[in-house]
Amino acid sequence: MQTRSRGLMVSAMALALAAGAATADEMAEYKSFFEPLPFLPPIPAHNSMTPEKIDLGRMLFFEPRISGSGVISCATCHNPALGWSDRIPRAVGHGGQVGERNTPTVLNSGFLESQFWDGREPDLEGQALGPIQADIEMNMSLSDAIDRLNEFEVYRKHFAAAFPEDPEPIRAENVALAIATFERTLNTPNSPLDRYLRGDEGAMTDSQKSGMRLFVDAGCVACHNGPALTDSNFHRFELPGSTDEGRYVVTGDEFDKFAFRTPTLRNVAVTYPYFNNGSVESLHDAVQLMGQQMLGQDFTDQELDDLVAFMHAMTGEMPRVEIPALP
Ligand code: HEC
Ligand code: HEC
Repeated sequence: MQTRSRGLMVSAMALALAAGAATADEMAEYKSFFEPLPFLPPIPAHNSMTPEKIDLGRMLFFEPRISGSGVISCATCHNPALGWSDRIPRAVGHGGQVGERNTPTVLNSGFLESQFWDGREPDLEGQALGPIQADIEMNMSLSDAIDRLNEFEVYRKHFAAAFPEDPEPIRAENVALAIATFERTLNTPNSPLDRYLRGDEGAMTDSQKSGMRLFVDAGCVACHNGPALTDSNFHRFELPGSTDEGRYVVTGDEFDKFAFRTPTLRNVAVTYPYFNNGSVESLHDAVQLMGQQMLGQDFTDQELDDLVAFMHAMTGEMPRVEIPALP
């Protein structure tokens, strides 16, 4: 009995050495596959970041009166209390209509090299005016939105302060510039992963460290890499029952059928449900499906637990955004 339990202990230790406790050199090697999240994403030359623009963009982000119903703002679907998303499978917009796709978080969206599940917009400036006009989202024409904003003295002041050189500052283009500027402040640095990469050995648990190694060894990192853990590229992924053709709708290229942009994994633990149609509720199931479809691999329960634990290490500090007092 005694020999047996000693034997068990020894093999448990050997396992721990093989699985949990990699040498510092080995871990340095694994760390080199990742990048800590910078405090700010790249700022485009044509849209400098000023406090006035951030303030205005924040107001517009929470402003429901630039929607046809007067009750839907960006924050309705990108809700700060829900990981800047909505926690429902597919977005509900104007008149209660349910869209085709899951609402991605806007957290760290400044780090993405293309916007939307199908990458149809290159940047946040290009993205911002889409939802105002989309009939299933906010359903308002841009000229009506501009007219409405013009009614408020407070907006006339804020637009003039944000775009001092512009003789007619309340216009659609500036709405986009301001919202994009505000979004670039919505970053989540200092996650356990970031702190670990910067040298705080205790920032991640052993399970998270095992998950990190598996994430590299299994090949997740081939697509989920860079500061936001996405290659900003498109990969084929088929969800049961889904007819969404993804990137193909944008390019018309057969090769892009059912291809979707790799989403960020930053804060993925708080942005459930998952995938382009929100059909998968748990992170565990999402990771399992990724292993099977993207890598042809079935993970053990322990491996899944470790990978999920590692995903939790990507939850950063939420931006402290003051809810604006609107006119
Ligand atoms: C009715 C819900 C709804 C509203 C309102 C809404 N969005 Fe979205 N948002 C979505 C959905 C759904 C997507 C994904 C659509 C797609 O990929 O085709 C999305 C995508 C995005 C993305 C791209 C993120 C990524 O990972 O690609 C950004 C940025 C964004 N929205 C910002 C905004 C802004 C700014 C507003 C207000 C002007 C807004 N949204 C209003 C539901 C909404
Ligand atoms: C070939 C590229 C590729 C590989 C390899 C890959 N992924 Fe993904 N991942 C994607 C794409 C593309 C999506 C979006 C799929 C969709 O919803 O259409 C995604 C989505 C996800 C999601 C859901 C995120 C969300 O917000 O909906 C998680 C979690 C995830 N991947 C984790 C992993 C893990 C863990 C691994 C390794 C086991 C992995 N991925 C391997 C490309 C990849």
